[in-house]
Amino acid sequence: MKSYRIAAIGGDGIGPEVIAAGLKALEACAKREGGFRFDVQEFDWGSDRYKRHGLLMPEGGVDELRAFDAIYFGAVGAPDVPDHVTLWGLRLAICQGLDQYANVRPTRILPGITAPLRNVSAKELDWIIVRENSEGEYAGQGGRSHKGLPEEVATEVSIFTRAGVTRIMRFAFALARSRPRKRLTVVTKSNAQRHGMVLWDEIAAEVAKEFPDVTADKMLVDAMTMRMVLKPQTLDTIVATNLHADILSDLAAALAGSLGIAPTANLNPERKFPSMFEPIHGSAFDIVGKGIANPIGTFWTGVMMLDHLGEPRAAERLMRAIERVTADSTLHTPDLGGKATTRQVTDAVIAALMGDNL
Ligand code: IPM
Ligand code: MG
Repeated sequence: MKSYRIAAIGGDGIGPEVIAAGLKALEACAKREGGFRFDVQEFDWGSDRYKRHGLLMPEGGVDELRAFDAIYFGAVGAPDVPDHVTLWGLRLAICQGLDQYANVRPTRILPGITAPLRNVSAKELDWIIVRENSEGEYAGQGGRSHKGLPEEVATEVSIFTRAGVTRIMRFAFALARSRPRKRLTVVTKSNAQRHGMVLWDEIAAEVAKEFPDVTADKMLVDAMTMRMVLKPQTLDTIVATNLHADILSDLAAALAGSLGIAPTANLNPERKFPSMFEPIHGSAFDIVGKGIANPIGTFWTGVMMLDHLGEPRAAERLMRAIERVTADSTLHTPDLGGKATTRQVTDAVIAALMGDNL
């Protein structure tokens, strides 16, 4: 029987709660489908570890992860540790260290979820956002001089490389091609940012020639926010820089009804290194330990992980179980306006998964 080695990093806040729920659902799914199993190793990395040892993960932590088939990640970020410390100490260190350059964020309105846009049906909002995940505005280049003095200066340099832009464009075009509408929107800001973003546009046009069957268009990021709200049905696959896609994906999650259900995958498409799968919602310290975190984002993230591991049947089954459960409003957690607990939602997804009439 195939066995997939999974590194489970619950991280901070509600991260460990949702990852525990996600692992239960994945294990049930493997049992139901047969033919594969999970070999899970848990890591206690995160802000608590930082407070005790000064590091979110041990030295060599990223190397340790290389031996795994995938990483299942909860959240990182704590109210009493600066955000840039937690982020660069764990999540970005893993993404950059394992060259997970394609961040993929599907957005759909799941059954039973109330979305804020009037007159937009679930069928009309079905997007997948591809976020460049290794450079751009998150490259980490820059510095500060004359700290604390009136002449203090800080730079935050965006990096766009031909190699980096080309690979994310190829990935996005290929993904667009694999979807029924074969449509890609390239988000840019080349009217104001005349170096990096112009290179971005030029490479998009070059790569477009390799994909003549994909219809591509270009949108300035500011206008894109309006199009997402006013004409969501005109969009399908979207590619954007690290920061632009960060912002657009929160908007997308809100338009689909909740940040609590949105999943994401940090992929190394060449599979030289393991990819990492995480819900988008973050650590949500206000509800830690209450047992009411919404595990749906983590389950959907598990669907992406199953797909990536090469278990599309199991992935589809888990997705159907998720949709069965979201359709029932008595199984909504408080973030969706309901009263259900993490446990109830998890049990319901597992029951649907194991059932014969899914
Ligand atoms: C995301 C998050 C992170 C990001 C935060 C936690 C730094 O917003 O995954 O979208 O900006 O990348
Ligand atoms: Mg974000």
